[in-house]
Amino acid sequence: MTENSTRAIGVAILGMGNVGTEVVRILTDNAADLTARVGAPMEIRGVAVRDLGKPRGIDPALLTDKPEDLVAREDVDIVVELMGGIDPPRMLIREALQSGKSVVTANKALLADYTGELATAAATAKVDLYFEAAVAGAIPVIRPLMQSLAGDTVTKVAGIVNGTTNFILSAMDADGSDYNETLAEAGRLGYAEADPTADVEGYDAAAKAAILASIAFHSRVTALNVYREGISNITAHDLASAKALDCTVKLLSICERIVAEDGTQRISARVYPALVPLEHPLAAVNGAFNAVVVEAENAGRLMFYGQGAGGAPTASAVLGDLVMAARNKVHGGRGPLESTYASLPIAPMGDVRTRYYVSMRVADKPGVLSTVAGEFSSRNISISTVRQEGAGEDARLVVVTHRAPDAALSETVAALEKMDSVLSVSSVLRLEGTNE
Ligand code: NAP
Ligand code: HSE
Repeated sequence: MTENSTRAIGVAILGMGNVGTEVVRILTDNAADLTARVGAPMEIRGVAVRDLGKPRGIDPALLTDKPEDLVAREDVDIVVELMGGIDPPRMLIREALQSGKSVVTANKALLADYTGELATAAATAKVDLYFEAAVAGAIPVIRPLMQSLAGDTVTKVAGIVNGTTNFILSAMDADGSDYNETLAEAGRLGYAEADPTADVEGYDAAAKAAILASIAFHSRVTALNVYREGISNITAHDLASAKALDCTVKLLSICERIVAEDGTQRISARVYPALVPLEHPLAAVNGAFNAVVVEAENAGRLMFYGQGAGGAPTASAVLGDLVMAARNKVHGGRGPLESTYASLPIAPMGDVRTRYYVSMRVADKPGVLSTVAGEFSSRNISISTVRQEGAGEDARLVVVTHRAPDAALSETVAALEKMDSVLSVSSVLRLEGTNE
């Protein structure tokens, strides 16, 4: 495609599931408006699927089960990858970029590990690689970080970036809904990944954290650099204890610039379920909604909120990228390149200062409280509150600490687990969103 041409922009769509179906619908229903916005019509050249027999409601001649052939077509200018998984999308996107096609993808699992090689291929071929839909569904967060805040210094990006787990935790908190039934419902509503383990074990949120941290801190962060815990061990008791502390439980994704006293900087990227005080804005984010709070030296605090999962909201973000890529094909120009000049190192989780909530079943007898407290104080961890729940065989101690290095906290929990008077440590969660 030459610049300033007004011939149609050929679009290949790889995948027609939850998101792909909505992308095809919007491209078809809004064709006239989109043509006016782009300056040329966008025409679907083909749609790759696995199962050609499934009814799709589109011209069957557009369907193919050979995505590699579709990507190779000369009349395709932009490839929209909505298949999911690493292979074949990695190879297909690379092929597309190398042959001068721009790419739009929502594939966070792929981007978390391979943005480097794909961005290099895009830069070499002078084409666009856009992925707004990969993080937080409909919410514009990649473009604000990459472009609007390009002149500022981002210090923290934190929030709720997985719709499925937020849907589950909100339902469990609101009316004691069953974990497995709510997860199945998230699948039916098109929120969950093809393998929902990615959602509930925090892999999806970790992939998004890697993408956000890379952009925010101009460094290459991969999923392996992100500390990760999921929500599969969260119980109704945790939610009840959270309520008693005027908190709720959210799966948080936190990317932080840590500056040491000598001025050296490191990145912490981490995902875990945490207690969040009810008065914190993230506590009010329910269902499949996401929210991302960005803190920057000059902008201060910005909050982005909206639908974080589902076919139509995600397709909105895909269409935004598609229009940008198509405009660039028509009028010339390119989107921003990957920026990794800072190359900041990753701080291990043990160095991060967090607060802990520890719930344990204990022997209900004199002296237990002081021995438990001793384990914390011997590691220089200050306790904020201690509460006893139940009595006799049901006695529990719930300890909430002040901020301390995560390594010291997990060492303390390991020591508590070995104590005779501690029958079991039933739950350990971090507490976020407080000023202490
Ligand atoms: P999905 O419903 O599972 O759809 C995947 C589509 O890709 C299906 O149409 C499938 O074909 C097709 N496909 C898979 N492997 C293929 C192959 N080897 N060859 C040809 N076609 C293949 O997934 P989705 O929920 O739409 O998600 C798509 C992508 O968007 C994923 O990367 C996901 O992480 C990301 N994303 C999803 C959401 C969301 O809310 N769902 C939000 C943001 C980002 P069949 O239809 O024949 O099975
Ligand atoms: N499975 C993802 C979620 C889809 O629940 O957030 C949106 O990325």
